[in-house]
Amino acid sequence: MSSNKKLFIQTLGCQMNDTDSQHIVAELEKHKDYSQTDVMEDADLIIINTCSVREKPVQKLFSEIGQFNKKKKDGAKIGVCGCTASHLGKDIIKRAPYVDFVVGARNISKIKDVVDIKGSVEISIDNDDSMYEFATAKTNKYRASVNISVGCDKKCTYCIVPSTRGEELSIPVEMIVDQVQKSVNQGAVEVMLLGQNVNSYGRRFSDGREKSTFTKLLQEVSKVEGLERIRFTSPHPLHMDDEFIEEFAKNKKISRCIHMPLQSGSTSILKAMKRGYTKEWFLNRTAKIRSLVPDLRITTDIIVAFPGETEADYQDTLDVVREAKFDQIFNFKYSPRPGTEALKMEDLAVPDKIGSARLIELIELHKRHLEAIMPTYVGQTFSVLVESLKPNGEVCGFTDNYLQVFAKGSDELLGKFVNVKITDNSRTSLKGEIVQ
Ligand code: SAH
Ligand code: SF4
Ligand code: F3S
Repeated sequence: MSSNKKLFIQTLGCQMNDTDSQHIVAELEKHKDYSQTDVMEDADLIIINTCSVREKPVQKLFSEIGQFNKKKKDGAKIGVCGCTASHLGKDIIKRAPYVDFVVGARNISKIKDVVDIKGSVEISIDNDDSMYEFATAKTNKYRASVNISVGCDKKCTYCIVPSTRGEELSIPVEMIVDQVQKSVNQGAVEVMLLGQNVNSYGRRFSDGREKSTFTKLLQEVSKVEGLERIRFTSPHPLHMDDEFIEEFAKNKKISRCIHMPLQSGSTSILKAMKRGYTKEWFLNRTAKIRSLVPDLRITTDIIVAFPGETEADYQDTLDVVREAKFDQIFNFKYSPRPGTEALKMEDLAVPDKIGSARLIELIELHKRHLEAIMPTYVGQTFSVLVESLKPNGEVCGFTDNYLQVFAKGSDELLGKFVNVKITDNSRTSLKGEIVQ
């Protein structure tokens, strides 16, 4: 359907927000006759889908909407969605009165009802039966993202997510499988299953049905014919039991790259964070999974300068980094968040200068690891799923363990697996030649 109304959407934050943005676009296309534009100045409706996890993205929200308001087309509306919408609610309109509506992360399904109501604020985090009922989300043609749960029941003391996304509820398995099947019918070969704590999938369903497990879900999803690769994020190291690790190792559809968010390597800081595991448990899990999956790559999240983090605690984190040999690290400096338990530990705050120095040292340590490991891939041949075409005549894709690979090639390779012999590397990607 062609339409004159244009929607511009900007997404901050995590992959859940990316999927939510796809749902917002799909809902507004289907019900409100909008079509998406990349040019903010052409838009009749401007939406920013926000993140609250650290203070920086919150500041970014206000600077961005200020700019949007100055440059937007006459009469264009501005909406704020996502996690900052959940936690600041009507204060957003107080601070920026030109904002037309506010929709929290748990209320995305209401988007079509509020776009035309000036001043509406939808931010409840109660269960809402309509919340999984979206128009089909458009995805990267070869890769689909599918939510498997909403919310989070963990109470990590630094984290605002449970208060922006509410209690954890699992989405019924048949809805997930159906969504995966639909995406595969539309050309997807890979699926990314999304939840804040995917390993606790099945503990509580919205319809009160019997419990299930993430391992069982993986088994069901892998039965979808035509689906070649399954990825998921985020698992929680505490809930990575042996059954899960064994399924991960033997299920050939599961990508050999796993995210294991460490947060800290110090057992006492992990306790203060309420992560529920120790340094030893984490190392035991990485060792077990590496022993069963030799070509595994592990990615992680680390927070430095959590309140009370001593030099010895920080050294424990470096120890784990050296031993677990992470292939990618998302590093963060602790950022105090409203309403979290860690906020009460302000008197233990680590001076900013020390936090910054720790972050830099961690980044350097990881760089040295990448400089050592990436050249070892040169000369090897990998099966690569080709996903995109670059303007320089190269195609780009990912190996089964999620290494990014570039090679000369053309559009008929898109969506296919090809063998690539690696000839060169950078710190974060590989280059090679397609071979038979
Ligand atoms: N549910 C996911 C995390 C979502 S938030 C999980 O448990 O892995 C993504 C990452 O942001 C977290 O893993 C953590 O490393 C970081 N983060 C969360 N709160 C933060 C805070 N207050 N300050 C700094 N980093 C934080
Ligand atoms: Fe936040 Fe912890 Fe839940 Fe992840 S598991 S979203 S870090 S509370
Ligand atoms: Fe994601 Fe940020 Fe919300 S990380 S869950 S968009 S606070």
